Amino acid sequence: MGAAISAVGVSRAFEDGSVALDGVSLDVAPGSVAVLVGPSGCGKTTLLRMIAGLDRPTRGTVTVDGAGAGDEGGPAAVAIAFQEPRLLPWRSTVRNVALPLELHGVRRRERLARARGMLGLVGLADAHRKLPGQLSGGMRMRAAIARALVTRPRVLLLDEPFGALDEITRHVLDDLVLAIRAELGMTVVLVTHSIAEAAYLGDRIFVMAPAPGRIVRTVEPGFGARGPALRASVPYASLMADLLQSLGTAMAASSGGRAA
Ligand SMILES: Nc1ncnc2c1ncn2[C@@H]1O[C@H](COP(=O)(O)OP(=O)(O)OP(=O)(O)O)[C@@H](O)[C@H]1O
Ligand SMILES: [Mg+2]
Repeated sequence: MGAAISAVGVSRAFEDGSVALDGVSLDVAPGSVAVLVGPSGCGKTTLLRMIAGLDRPTRGTVTVDGAGAGDEGGPAAVAIAFQEPRLLPWRSTVRNVALPLELHGVRRRERLARARGMLGLVGLADAHRKLPGQLSGGMRMRAAIARALVTRPRVLLLDEPFGALDEITRHVLDDLVLAIRAELGMTVVLVTHSIAEAAYLGDRIFVMAPAPGRIVRTVEPGFGARGPALRASVPYASLMADLLQSLGTAMAASSGGRAA
């Protein structure tokens, strides 16, 4: 089962005076997909880093299953994947995926078996011996997700994971995220600049505005089954139009009310 994530009154000010987040509160239900959208610089990555325990709020709290994010011995493992796959070019795909287990001291035979299993789950069963340079962009991203999942985290954080990919590959990988979530049951927090992706994947969508970074709107689309029928539906199109408008307002706020 995935973990519940909660942020209460979270602010993050940096030493140079910039305020990346100001009073952000959010709740993510266990096993759900939360999406963060908002203009560049509104604090999306900063918020993900705090959920991962890689950074701490200057005010407020971030908890994962009730424990402080990143606390020693905290109950829920959190994994993060970024826009660039960041695979080691000299290691085969399976050895890239096995790397987190290697760092945890898991024995060779077991870690390779688990990495193979995870590659199967992301549709790369036949590519385990290839080097990253021999994979397509979409395949590299699948491998990066397999590597994030190999330790069986209860929370998967994805920061703009498919931004560099073409639209069709992106649709396929959006469905992959849902399939993996159904199989492994983890909680997902996804940052995206794509409104289509946000509307498709989000059980809860948080629209953020910058300077200072904050949540200006929370949307729960309530879509049940995802798939081609949803992508072609009127409620989906309306949600996209609605989100676009909210983002436009957030952008206008970021340029001090001036037209961008
Ligand atoms: N280490 C840091 N020191 C100073 N300011 C920082 C630091 N990290 C982030 N910031 C500032 O905090 C704000 C939010 O940054 P963040 O990277 O979280 O934005 P983002 O929403 O992820 O943007 P993007 O969509 O471009 O990735 C920005 O104004 C940024 O300049
Ligand atoms: Mg970012």
